[in-house]
Amino acid sequence: MSAIEIKRLGPGFAAEVRGAGLADVAQRDDAYAAVRAAFEAHSVLVFHGQKISDELQIAYSKRFGPLEIAKAASRAEGTPFSVLTNIEPDGSLVPPDHKEALRARANQLWHTDSCFKDPPALASVLSARVVATVGGETEFASQRLGWERLPEPRRARLADAYAWHDYAYSRGKISPAMISTRERSTLPPVRWRVRWRNPANGRDSLYIASHTYAIDGMPEGEAQALLAELIEHTTASGHTYLHHWQPGDVLMWDNRCILHRGRPWPDDQPRHVVRTTITATEADGLAAMRPAA
Ligand code: OGA
Ligand code: MN
Repeated sequence: MSAIEIKRLGPGFAAEVRGAGLADVAQRDDAYAAVRAAFEAHSVLVFHGQKISDELQIAYSKRFGPLEIAKAASRAEGTPFSVLTNIEPDGSLVPPDHKEALRARANQLWHTDSCFKDPPALASVLSARVVATVGGETEFASQRLGWERLPEPRRARLADAYAWHDYAYSRGKISPAMISTRERSTLPPVRWRVRWRNPANGRDSLYIASHTYAIDGMPEGEAQALLAELIEHTTASGHTYLHHWQPGDVLMWDNRCILHRGRPWPDDQPRHVVRTTITATEADGLAAMRPAA
């Protein structure tokens, strides 16, 4: 096998993996160990030229931990896939007021996947199946670097703060019609510490997103202003990595420390991407995220 090479892509985070693909990681412990180390260090990994299939995406993703099963009313309900697409089963494109078009708009808010779930997500793996020729990029920012850029007194105040996350809150910013009563009842708000410490390297990260609506002990208006300011700080110009998708690309990101958002593309262009989501376990630093009983 060729040596695995890691090539830095973004400002202090994000890297391309060369010399190993998803199949190597699925099949070989040494390739998994190298890619896992790169994931802990760089937070966003890019693989080009993958011959992706649903089976390969599952085999790769399962190396990192248990997979989330899609529950909410999605096309992929009951499977480990979250499918983001504007293509109808008959090949036509969805109209702009379609649920999938609203989902795409909601994805354009800075977020981390599944912080509104218990357990939350360790990582997401996203494969390009059909890419738009203009737009449709995915943009990333590091909450680890955002945390490290905060002044120390600020970090000290935030380290033991707890914040509330709610899927209905972020969807409500797009359209109140976006979330069904069933989704609302299966996804009650959850609370996590505002700082996630990575047990592999001891590095701390902010852990907030557009799903985050409250901080314990703080008036709601003040908390929401602070959350917006922290997201702006983390995602400020010059601190993001914008990924232009090519067919065959697969990306993986660390939801403990990465904010991401989709970028718009023309309504008349097809785009179809498939995500698998790996659930965080205690080994990923989850225990310290829960409020003391
Ligand atoms: C996701 C997501 C953005 C995009 O799959 O979790 O936010 O650009 N995707 O498709
Ligand atoms: Mn997402």
